Amino acid sequence: MATPYETFEYDVLVIGAGGAGLRAAIEASAAGVKVGLVCKSLLGKAHTVMAEGGMAAAMGNVDDRDNWKVHFADTMRGGQYVNNWRMAELHAKEAPARVYELEAWGAVFDRTKDGKILQRNFGGHKYPRLAHVGDRTGLEMIRTLQDHGIHQGITVHMEWTIVTLLKDGERVVGAFGYDRERGRFKILKAKAVVIASGGLGRAYKITSNSWEGTGDGHSLAYHAGAELLDMEFIQFHPTGMIWPPSVQGLLVTESVRGEGGVLRNKDGHRFMFDDIPDNYKSQTSTDPEEGWRYTQNDKNARRPPELLTRDHVARCINREVKAGRGSPHGGVFLDISWIKEKIPNAAEHIKRKLPSMYHQFMQLANLDITKEPMEVGPTTHYAMGGVRVNGDTQMSSVPGLFAAGECAAGLHGANRLGGNSLSDLLVFGKRAGEFAAKYAKENSAGQISDAQIEEAARQAIEPFEYGAKAGGSAEGPYQVQHDLQNMMQELVGIVRREDEMSRALDGLDKLWDRARKTAVYGNREYNPGWHTALDLKHLLTISEAIARSALDRKESRGGHFREDFPNKDAESGKMNIVIVKGADGSMQLRHEPIPAMPDELKQVIEEMK
Ligand code: FUM
Repeated sequence: MATPYETFEYDVLVIGAGGAGLRAAIEASAAGVKVGLVCKSLLGKAHTVMAEGGMAAAMGNVDDRDNWKVHFADTMRGGQYVNNWRMAELHAKEAPARVYELEAWGAVFDRTKDGKILQRNFGGHKYPRLAHVGDRTGLEMIRTLQDHGIHQGITVHMEWTIVTLLKDGERVVGAFGYDRERGRFKILKAKAVVIASGGLGRAYKITSNSWEGTGDGHSLAYHAGAELLDMEFIQFHPTGMIWPPSVQGLLVTESVRGEGGVLRNKDGHRFMFDDIPDNYKSQTSTDPEEGWRYTQNDKNARRPPELLTRDHVARCINREVKAGRGSPHGGVFLDISWIKEKIPNAAEHIKRKLPSMYHQFMQLANLDITKEPMEVGPTTHYAMGGVRVNGDTQMSSVPGLFAAGECAAGLHGANRLGGNSLSDLLVFGKRAGEFAAKYAKENSAGQISDAQIEEAARQAIEPFEYGAKAGGSAEGPYQVQHDLQNMMQELVGIVRREDEMSRALDGLDKLWDRARKTAVYGNREYNPGWHTALDLKHLLTISEAIARSALDRKESRGGHFREDFPNKDAESGKMNIVIVKGADGSMQLRHEPIPAMPDELKQVIEEMK
């Protein structure tokens, strides 16, 4: 008997309701097409809220020397020049308009004394550039987009998981999923599909991502035939909580350092002074006084080394801990309380600028950050790699399939600058929505065969069949997930080596075997074990892509650091690594030269040096 399912028809289907998904849905709907939006969690609960410190846009409100050219050059330098330069150009040019648009839709930004949107300093940005709302900017962005989107006639399906994309020939024409409460199957037909499902941090043990971040979008696109790009570049945010263990990995916003917070080892030494990369030497100061003035927006001061790029800061913290100079629980100290030496009413100032951090540490660690330093360490935060897209339209290599936000690759190259994520979501969410709507208008609905739907349903319920056969003796999905996270953390983490990554690939083979035989018991209603069993396919797919790409890139660049190849390699810096599913189902990897940058952009980079 055919599997029962409910069918929905849209022009544009958006998968994921964080900043990029909401912005794409708003744009597509404004173009007059019928839009459906699916999210794995409740609407508004997205990793976007973890970009706390602000959205980067060269508005020049605090320092009028800022403009799109400086932002473009900073983004390319931060990404170590393997970025998609067209995306970096569009992003730098369009971000200010997207921020003002958000303000017009109701976002309540912090203000300068003369009433402009206030901008703060962040790592790798030459000028104060992050428009912000205290340390809750991502939350304010989601709130605003939700409020705006709700009036657009978008149909939202909350707590639904997409299991596979559906195709008509080469083209993506819909998705197969289920609602997480009742486990009932859903077919979502669409003329165009936008994937905006965020990141994959849950492949690692220590992460700022919550349970949803299992790389679904990357994996759905890959299995539908899309190319993945530069999956080796993973961002380990330097400052996550490390204590107590129950909150390990939770983000401690970079704004703490942007507001003057300093990093120290157990001896009280500001270890960031010890290692400043050559390409940032002229912009960075080792004079504590000058660094402090920079954080207070003194135009004549140079940045403190705590505001170097995230990849570098994370590695310096790692070095201190490994050398035995770490804090009691295996991190380092981040201190904002010291600013009481500099300003009156420092405690009130900290609570006003960093309200979430104050409450987070008070409530979770019983620590008052206005009085004591925090203990912090690197946490898996963001994937720079992802679905390869056209920089202008955001369409992937598969017709009808678009991607935006964290699950799309290109803009950030080898390392993302803090704050460039929220502006990425707005700029490319809008573009994805616009071009998906255009595509939907130009193409009719595709045909989805019954066989395809039956196969998707069969695969989805397979874990129950193992459960029934094993009669309670087979392994459940949680142990496999746990072992995967530990292995990725240990073998494909912040510092990588050939022998370890080869071991990880062997380990992944074994984990794939175990995952295929994972058993789930009970029925489809309210069954988190089943959800986890289905997430495993995504987690294993993206972990394999990360490990294969990381093993292949024989150099260190941005978020990818190889102990056995500690330097950058000029030739490797001219190529991207592309991963695609081969005809036999195996993962295929190839190199592609980065397209030549037009002379006018080269000139911008030269000027900014
Ligand atoms: O540290 C932070 O507030 C994170 C920002 C980001 O990832 O862009």
